[in-house]
Amino acid sequence: MGRCCFYTAGTLSLLLLVTSVTLLVARVFQKAVDQTIEKNMVLQNGTKVFNSWEKPPLPVYIQFYFFNVTNPEEILQGEIPLLEEVGPYTYRELRNKANIQFGENGTTISAVTNKAYVFERNQSVGDPNVDLIRTINIPLLTVVDLAQLPLLRELIEAMLKAYQQKLFVIHTVHELLWGYKDEILSLVHIFKPDVSPNFGLFYERNGTNDGEYVFLTGEDNYLNFSKIVEWNGKTSLDWWTTDTCNMINGTDGDSFHPLISKDEVLYLFPSDLCRSVHITFSSYENVEGLPAFRYKVPAEILANTSENAGFCIPEGNCMDSGVLNISICKNGAPIIMSFPHFYQADEKFVSAIKGMHPNKEEHESFVDINPLTGIILRGAKRFQINTYVRKLDGFVETGDIRTMVFPVMYLNEVSPERGGRHRMF
Ligand SMILES: *[C@@H]1O[C@H](CO)[C@@H](O)[C@H](O)[C@H]1NC(C)=O
Ligand SMILES: *[C@@H]1O[C@H](CO)[C@@H](O)[C@H](O)[C@H]1NC(C)=O
Ligand SMILES: *[C@@H]1O[C@H](CO)[C@@H](O)[C@H](O)[C@H]1NC(C)=O
Ligand SMILES: *[C@@H]1O[C@H](CO)[C@@H](O)[C@H](O)[C@H]1NC(C)=O
Ligand SMILES: *[C@@H]1O[C@H](CO)[C@@H](O)[C@H](O)[C@H]1NC(C)=O
Ligand SMILES: *[C@@H]1O[C@H](CO)[C@@H](O)[C@H](O)[C@H]1NC(C)=O
Ligand SMILES: *[C@@H]1O[C@H](CO)[C@@H](O)[C@H](O)[C@H]1NC(C)=O
Ligand SMILES: *[C@@H]1O[C@H](CO)[C@@H](O)[C@H](O)[C@H]1NC(C)=O
Ligand SMILES: *[C@@H]1O[C@H](CO)[C@@H](O)[C@H](O)[C@H]1NC(C)=O
Repeated sequence: MGRCCFYTAGTLSLLLLVTSVTLLVARVFQKAVDQTIEKNMVLQNGTKVFNSWEKPPLPVYIQFYFFNVTNPEEILQGEIPLLEEVGPYTYRELRNKANIQFGENGTTISAVTNKAYVFERNQSVGDPNVDLIRTINIPLLTVVDLAQLPLLRELIEAMLKAYQQKLFVIHTVHELLWGYKDEILSLVHIFKPDVSPNFGLFYERNGTNDGEYVFLTGEDNYLNFSKIVEWNGKTSLDWWTTDTCNMINGTDGDSFHPLISKDEVLYLFPSDLCRSVHITFSSYENVEGLPAFRYKVPAEILANTSENAGFCIPEGNCMDSGVLNISICKNGAPIIMSFPHFYQADEKFVSAIKGMHPNKEEHESFVDINPLTGIILRGAKRFQINTYVRKLDGFVETGDIRTMVFPVMYLNEVSPERGGRHRMF
């Protein structure tokens, strides 16, 4: 009896001892792992981390969904637009960094990210060179906005009359994305050379980059890994009306610093949104056996709040929640950003258009990050391009149209889990 109990107690204490030693070892080991990662996640010539930053091995696809206008005559008479989603038109996005230069002491690195797009017929609904989309005439809207300037008004009115421009136009998917020569823009170009005669939602985006970035390498501190310090020679933006809104925060979204804790808010600057955004932890995920934190763009990013007041231009001219007027960074074209199908936007935007079906699965942006290394395992960046339309006296082209935010296209930029896992160590 005594023997048995002694034995049991002995085993127990031995077990406890072993457990606490294991815990101690695990702690020390964890610390060693952390330190190794902190030291290795640095952009240094010749390392694996550098190589996969230079040429990201994760395949990226970009899918475009257009909104085909089915009732143009009725819309001009003041009825609700009825839009039909057409897509996806899928392109493989090839990225690589170029003009790479290290700063003097290895703490900074400058580079451009070139992107090229190759059509993937297998993953698309049709042929972009054949399929026709009827959509709103963005060049016309842009020119009409220019006509608000004195002097130009009469000239533009006369031009529009002479050229019989219509508010709705039909173009191929390829033209709408990669550009076409527009009659009216060509005319404006003659006396206002800064206006391009071509228009396309992704015009001049194939084989080009969005400007030079200066990043921190992570040499001074792992928390600064691939953090942007400069974009096109500037440390902050100048489009918005407050300093916090003009800040260029975080990384470009292609990588994050290692050792992420879920309480952390991460920042990124997607230049096509013309502003920095933050993402927050939402759930634990598992991507092909690797643990991941799912981070999401919270709805408050586009909410009509006091923090976002600096994005309302002209100052004080806030719109309802869920949209962002980026006209100021699109050469004056009346472009309004939102999430696809006005996901998480004010109900009034959804009900102003027939054919909007916002849902989390298809329309939410997220990124699954391995918390140890900061490597992105899977992600989807989704946003919608809209225009702002209203009836304008003196412009018969606008008919009796309602005032509304009118959807044109949305995109889904995805890194699929299959075929793409990569190692940095
Ligand atoms: C990295 O090192 C290689 C070989 O030494 C050199 O050719 C290359 O220019 C270096 N790259 C940068 C960005 O400094
Ligand atoms: C590295 O150089 C930058 C400017 O070139 C300077 O601000 C920074 O203090 C330097 N860092 C170290 C660790 O020397
Ligand atoms: C982009 O450029 C590449 C290389 O010049 C070309 O192969 C590809 O077809 C182009 N993509 C589009 C959408 O025009
Ligand atoms: C498209 O799919 C076909 C059959 O499924 C396959 O043979 C072909 O290689 C695919 N093409 C591309 C570009 O993936
Ligand atoms: C879009 O609508 C137009 C006009 O109704 C039609 O001709 C065209 O086929 C539609 N496009 C697609 C891809 O369904
Ligand atoms: C780098 O990280 C440290 C510690 O987080 C921070 O104090 C410093 O300001 C960062 N450097 C830059 C240029 O952001
Ligand atoms: C940039 O980050 C700072 C905190 O570092 C925050 O106060 C500010 O709102 C951020 N700006 C944007 C546009 O995300
Ligand atoms: C935006 O918010 C402000 C302040 O809360 C409010 O006065 C304004 O009416 C809102 N604007 C819209 C368009 O909802
Ligand atoms: C969008 O911003 C521009 C300034 O860039 C402004 O002229 C226009 O009125 C704004 N549009 C709306 C709908 O507020």
